[in-house]
Amino acid sequence: MAASDARESRRLSTLLEVSSALSGTLNLRSALHKVLEILTKHHGYIRSLVTMLHDNGELHIEASDGLDGPSHNVKYRIGEGIIGRVVESGRPIVVPRVSKEPAFLNRATKRSEAAKEELSFVCVPILLNRRAVGAIGVDLKFRADRDYDRTVKFLGIVASNIAQAVKIQRLIEDDKKRLVQENTQLRQELKERYDFSSIIGTSGPVRQMYEQMAQVAAANTTVMIRGESGTGKELVAHAIHYNSQRANKPFVKVSCAALPDSLIESELFGYEKGAFTGAEQRKKGRFELAEGGTLFLDEIGDINLTTQVKLLRVLQEREFERLGSTETIKVNVRLVAATNKDMERAVAAGTFREDLYYRLNVFTIFVPPLRERKADLLLLVDHFLEKFSREHRKSIKRISTPAIDMLMSYHWPGNVRELENTLERAVLMCDGQVIHGHHLPPSLQTAEASGTVTRVSLADAVGAFEKDLIQDALKTTRGNRAKAARLLDTTERVLNYKVRKYAVDVRRFTN
Ligand SMILES: Nc1ncnc2c1ncn2[C@@H]1O[C@H](COP(=O)(O)OP(=O)(O)OP(=O)(O)O)[C@@H](O)[C@H]1O
Ligand SMILES: [Mg+2]
Repeated sequence: MAASDARESRRLSTLLEVSSALSGTLNLRSALHKVLEILTKHHGYIRSLVTMLHDNGELHIEASDGLDGPSHNVKYRIGEGIIGRVVESGRPIVVPRVSKEPAFLNRATKRSEAAKEELSFVCVPILLNRRAVGAIGVDLKFRADRDYDRTVKFLGIVASNIAQAVKIQRLIEDDKKRLVQENTQLRQELKERYDFSSIIGTSGPVRQMYEQMAQVAAANTTVMIRGESGTGKELVAHAIHYNSQRANKPFVKVSCAALPDSLIESELFGYEKGAFTGAEQRKKGRFELAEGGTLFLDEIGDINLTTQVKLLRVLQEREFERLGSTETIKVNVRLVAATNKDMERAVAAGTFREDLYYRLNVFTIFVPPLRERKADLLLLVDHFLEKFSREHRKSIKRISTPAIDMLMSYHWPGNVRELENTLERAVLMCDGQVIHGHHLPPSLQTAEASGTVTRVSLADAVGAFEKDLIQDALKTTRGNRAKAARLLDTTERVLNYKVRKYAVDVRRFTN
């Protein structure tokens, strides 16, 4: 009685060790090794092994203890040998005298030499959802009085522990596989979506912008994207990233205007546990998340002066510290920034640091407003009509001439975004196959707003015309005033005077 009590308590403590070995690591193989070692140590098994069923229907020895030779490429088929039969039937098999069993394959070791004495073999299946995914087998000394049922029961519990570990590992692997697949697919989609060709337009100003993008994309240069709201700055930022060598690394966006001053630094640089109240865990900042890739600082004109100082340091030294940490972190990140603010005015007013401004202004891309690229309007209209017809399952074929006239004569203060919204609304309102004027918002339908009635003075009209001519000339000469003056058949002095009078931003043309 005392002896069987002792055996019972040994079994329990073995099970405890087994379950902690299995839960201690995500590496199933090494956990199985540990389990077999524990079994051998406490129960005097001579040899033990775990085989697992692979996708190709073969059983491989996953772990073993006490086998003579290398066991890793020993394979069985389902139904073959004792182990194969156990997996096939999902039931344990006991072979009390191995020497008397013809089905015994003895593939993993030369038992006949190793053992002078008679051996028994006990093999139980590892069951997952009632199906055998493998088996655990042990050799023990043959004893006529041995209680094999107990051994089977005991190994059954060990096997069910193993099954749990296998289940968890498979869940994790499936998840991982799914995530990797999803990730590759998403990256591909992003790449296609943000190809240069996703930016619609063939007008002069847009072509000039493409050229600049192509020039700078491959380099690691910091890029500043300027332009009015809704002109496509974010699209440009994406296209630069996905056409650079960093395309397969992350593109991380920070909307500086959307984050309150108190949060922006922790978002950018991350923090250590306990850095401030509420910092319950260490958190990586966007700079770290963008490692190897591109960090897009949208609306950079809105960041506060303290954050500007820190940003300047990252730009200069390529390093920073997490909030609440003294450890310096090096980063390899390309910076792309965008703003619709008048940065020069902000610098003059002291709300934007001049040194940061110069650091950011290494290469500036101006995204032209829609009113300066009316030639692209029809292309954009086609693009959006097709996109929204598809999205909203409508079969819109065309847009009427009066409606096009209305779109053409409107001044588009909200730029491409406003055009996009206008056309989505039109598609939703349209029941037939043709978009008409009455599908457009009222603001476009009034002649006044659309600019078809001119109520300006002659002086203003002439002024606007002059300004246009000067801008065109500067565009052609890439900002060279002397050449522009010659083109316009005037003197540089007169040109300079008009540039100032009409507040023409010459720098826009110099890039
Ligand atoms: N050339 C273009 N071709 C196709 N779509 C465009 C183009 N330009 C802009 N868009 C679309 O217009 C919308 C506004 O663009 P985006 O968000 O890039 O503008 P933004 O300049 O960043 O504006 P904001 O300053 O308001 O943030 C987006 O839906 C974008 O896809
Ligand atoms: Mg934007």
